[in-house]
Amino acid sequence: MYVRFDNLGHSFSEDVKVLNNINLEIDASSMAIIGPSGGGKSTLLRVLGGMIYPSEGAFYFDDKKIDFRKNPEWHKKIGFVFQSNGLFPHLTGSQNITMPLTEVFGYSLADAKEMAFELLERFGLEQDGCKFPHQLSGGQQQRIAIARAVASKPKILLLDEPTSALDPEFTSEVLDMVDELRTDGLKIIVVTHHMGFARLSCDKAMFLYGGNVMEVGDSKDFFTSPKNPELQSFLDKILEWN
Ligand SMILES: Nc1ncnc2c1ncn2[C@@H]1O[C@H](COP(=O)(O)OP(=O)(O)OP(=O)(O)O)[C@@H](O)[C@H]1O
Ligand SMILES: [Mg+2]
Repeated sequence: MYVRFDNLGHSFSEDVKVLNNINLEIDASSMAIIGPSGGGKSTLLRVLGGMIYPSEGAFYFDDKKIDFRKNPEWHKKIGFVFQSNGLFPHLTGSQNITMPLTEVFGYSLADAKEMAFELLERFGLEQDGCKFPHQLSGGQQQRIAIARAVASKPKILLLDEPTSALDPEFTSEVLDMVDELRTDGLKIIVVTHHMGFARLSCDKAMFLYGGNVMEVGDSKDFFTSPKNPELQSFLDKILEWN
C-alpha cells in the first residue's frame, strides 16, 4: 500500500494540535506506528479509519484521496480493531461476525454464517463461536474481533494496540493471527508497544511524537540504528526491561 499524507493536521480544540501537518509518503505492506502516550497515534489511526475527519489536509491510499464524507463507502474497505475488542456483549462470537456482514455488507444470513464459520475454523475458534464475549478469554475475544474486522475482506486493517489490554499469555496468539493475515497479503497498519512485533512483522515503522512524525523507515534500520534522538531515548526506555 502506498500512503501519502498531505499537510494532514488535526486539533480537537483551537489551541492544541494533535497532528501537526504531516507531509509524508510511504510504501509499505505493513506498518507499525509507535511513540509515547499522547503523541497522536490513536488520533492518526482514527483519521485513517474515518472515525475522525482531519481538520486540515488530506491523505491518500494508493494515490486515491480518501474523503469519508464525500465517499462513505470507504468505511467498508477499512477494518478496524480497538484496544479492547468492542464486541457486542449480547451477541455470540459468531453473531458478532455475521451481524455486520448482513446489516452493513448485504450478505444473506446463510452466506454470512458460512464466512464466519470459515474464519472461526481457520483461526482455531470453532469452539468459541457459540459463546458470548464474557465467556471467552481476552485473547479469544480479541481474535474474534479481528475475525469480525477481516470478514468483509477490507483492503486495509487498522489495529490500535490490539494486545495492550491482554495478559501476556494471550498476546502471542493475537499477534500470530495478525501476522498470518499479513502473510496472506492483507495490508496492515498497527499501533503497538510490541517492538518485537513491529520489527519482525512490519516492514515499515513510524515514530509519532507530539503530533509529528519524527522518523519513518524500514523496520530493520529503524530499530537497530534510530537517528532521531527522541526515538533513541524512547526505544531505550521501552527496551530497558526487555
Ligand atoms: N476526543 C478527544 N478530545 C480532545 N482531545 C483528545 C481526544 N482524543 C485525544 N485527545 C488528545 O489528543 C492527544 C493525542 O491523543 P491520542 O489518543 O491520539 O494519543 P496516543 O498516542 O494514542 O496515546 P496512548 O499511547 O496513550 O494511546 C492527547 O493529548 C489527547 O488528550
Ligand atoms: Mg492511543
